[in-house]
Order: sequence, then structure tokens, then C-alpha cells
Amino acid sequence: MNTPRFHRRKKKLKVIVVAGARPNFMKVAPLIRQIRLMKARIELKFVHTGQHYDRNMSGIFFEELGMPRPDMHLGVGSGTHGEQTAGVLLAFEKILFSFRPDVVVVVGDVNSTLACALAASKLGIKIAHIEAGLRSFDRSMPEEINRIMTDKISDFLFTPSRDADRNLIKEGVARSKIFFVGNIMADSLLAHRAQAQSLHAEKTFGLTKNNYILVTAHRPATVDTKETLHKLLQGLSQLSRNQPVVFPMHPRTKSTLASFGLTGLVTLASSGNTPYVRGKVLALEPLGYLPFLSLMASASFVITDSGGIQEETTILKVPCLTFRETTERPITVTQGTNTVLGLNQNRLLKESKKILNGTYKKTGRIPELWDGRTAQRILRILLKQNYSYKS
Ligand code: UD1
Repeated sequence: MNTPRFHRRKKKLKVIVVAGARPNFMKVAPLIRQIRLMKARIELKFVHTGQHYDRNMSGIFFEELGMPRPDMHLGVGSGTHGEQTAGVLLAFEKILFSFRPDVVVVVGDVNSTLACALAASKLGIKIAHIEAGLRSFDRSMPEEINRIMTDKISDFLFTPSRDADRNLIKEGVARSKIFFVGNIMADSLLAHRAQAQSLHAEKTFGLTKNNYILVTAHRPATVDTKETLHKLLQGLSQLSRNQPVVFPMHPRTKSTLASFGLTGLVTLASSGNTPYVRGKVLALEPLGYLPFLSLMASASFVITDSGGIQEETTILKVPCLTFRETTERPITVTQGTNTVLGLNQNRLLKESKKILNGTYKKTGRIPELWDGRTAQRILRILLKQNYSYKS
């Protein structure tokens, strides 16, 4: 006799994944890809806050990373920190009321990250923070405040490195909430590396492989003070006598450059046809994910104040000089290819010279679990949990 088989229909896990600004897109893309493969077990809503809205700061990443259109777009846009954070909070709360997810997943450290975490926390909805535990220990950085506050109210703290675990433990976070899962940006980078390298983006700008310096700078501490931005650009224009210096420029940097009257130090290129002039920095429009990855992989080295680029250069084993006083990603210095310079023009020139004459010592190794499988590890953990509401 056949025994009847009963299938207990499990409730799907309701998840909202949030992205808002450029550095978020390569972090949510691998997660969304994995979730879509698990449609039977997870119901996803993907929310874009609209913190970044230009095509080359947002739309292009969706196409290149194969991401679906967001289910909801909050259209918050630019503003003061208060306006932006409050705008996202108000708009996101309405979405939480209507969809009532089991868990909200936020990534990184931008204003949208904190705003969405705060809205969820007040409604007793669980929060998963990817890239938890990173600390620069510099509270003048808006991102540091966003990291600390988001981690305080998160239920799942997914860390990219063991130093992040230690930071959280020191802050009194329960060990049961901390999950060392590796670096989710590595998932995107490793998935797109071959495609990016086949682009040979350097050729588009008349450059040759391993014979140019790639620069990015957009942090308020670097670009909002005339003296510091001037120091950086002077250093770069000196370097550009040795090798071409290319600088895809964030809108904030472009605007402060003009308002400080420093445009004379750069050639502003609006297309790939602008010739490189020795002694002048070649400023480009912001680039999409693939061309930027391509330029990074073939650069002789990178100068940046970005957080993510310190990690990406470590994965690509390209030397990186960080024009900042601190880093929240010390593993890129201890294990990777990164050196933190301070806001110091002399060190910029000294370390650059070492790279150019072949005496820079850091060849780097890939940190633990930066292996392209972080999204899978995160989802496995989220699916195992019990989502009874808090309080
Ligand atoms: C934000 C993040 C920062 C991240 C960076 C990456 C915060 C506090 N900061 O800084 O951590 O490294 O994104 O880019 O969340 N703008 C445009 N078009 C856009 C977006 C912005 O022109 O699509 C201009 C606007 O003038 C805006 C300015 O850039 O006021 C700054 O944008 P905002 O989102 O406030 O901060 P970011 O400097 O981009």
C-alpha cells in the first residue's frame, strides 16, 4: 500500500534588498542573482533609494551587472546629510508598511544604508548588514557614523574580514549576531573580471597596459578643501611627467575643482579622443563598472581615497596608494597591495616612485573568503533563521 506523502508548504522568506549609491550596486548584484535562483524559497523586493541618479553613477551599473530594474525607486536624490537620510527614511518606511518583509538587507556605509536600517529597526523588522564591522576610527567621516549606527541596530552582521569581527566584539556586539562571510564585492569582481579585461579600456583613452596611473578621489576630506585638493592635483601633475595620469571624476570633485579654480591642472576629456598632455591630469567622466575594472586591472598602480577600490586592487594584485589619513579596510594593507599615505604629497611622490622603479614591496595575497561565494554564504545563513518579530 502506498503511504500518502504530505508536503508541508514552507512560507517564503520575504526579503528587501536596498541599494542607493554607486558603491552599493556591485555589492547587491551577486546577492540578487543568487536570490533569483532561489525563487521558490525567497520573495524579493529590490529597492533603489535614488541617492545616486545620474546614468553613469547608477543606471549603467544595472546594465553591466545584469541587475533587474528595482521594484521600487524612492527617487530621493541629493541634499544635505539630514535631508537625504530623512528623505530615504520616510519613503522607505512606507514600503515596509506595505510589504512587511522578514528581513531588510543593507550594504556598505552610505546614507541610504543607515536610513533604511533605521526605518526597519523602528518597525521591529530584522536587519542584515553586509560589510559590517569596518571602522576607520575617524568620526569626522560620514561613513563612519553610518557604519557604527547601522551595526548597532542590525541583527545579522556579515563581516568581510576577521578584523571587522574583532571591532564588533570590542563594541559589545553579541557573537551570535556576527557572521564572517567574506567580501561580497569579490563575488562581482571575480564574475566580471575576464569580461572587463577583454575590453582593453586603456586603448580607448590612448593608453598602454601597465603604463598609466589611475586615480579616483571624491571624499569630502580630500576634495572639499582647496588646500588638500590642490596638494593632490599638484602631486598628480608631477607624476604625469613620468606616466599618464587618468582620473575618472566624481561629480562632487568636478564641481569643487571648478569652484576652487583648479581646472588648470587637468585636461577635461569629454570623449576618448582627448589627447593626453604631459604634466596634466586627464580627467574623465565617471566610468561604468566594466571599463573601470578594465582600467584598474591594467594600470601600473592606483591612487584613491575610495574604500572599495582599496579592496578591488588587492584582489587584482595592483598596487594601491590611499590618499587618506586612515583606512577602515586594514586587511588591504596587512595582506593586500595597499599603502595609506595620509593627505601627504611627499609620501604620494615617494611611494609612487618606488612603484615606478620596481622597489615597492607589496605584491599582496587574497584575503580569506574573498573567493566569490560570499552571497551564497549569506543566503544560507538568512534562510536558516527564525524570523519571529522583535519586541
Ligand atoms: C556617497 C557616499 C560615499 C560613497 C560615494 C560614492 C554617503 C554619506 N556618502 O558620497 O560613502 O563613497 O557615495 O560615490 O552616503 N551627484 C551627482 N549625481 C549623482 C549623485 C550625486 O551629480 O548621481 C552629486 C550631487 O551634486 C551631490 C554630490 O554628488 O550633491 C554628492 O552626492 P552624495 O550622494 O551626497 O554623496 P557622494 O559624495 O556621492
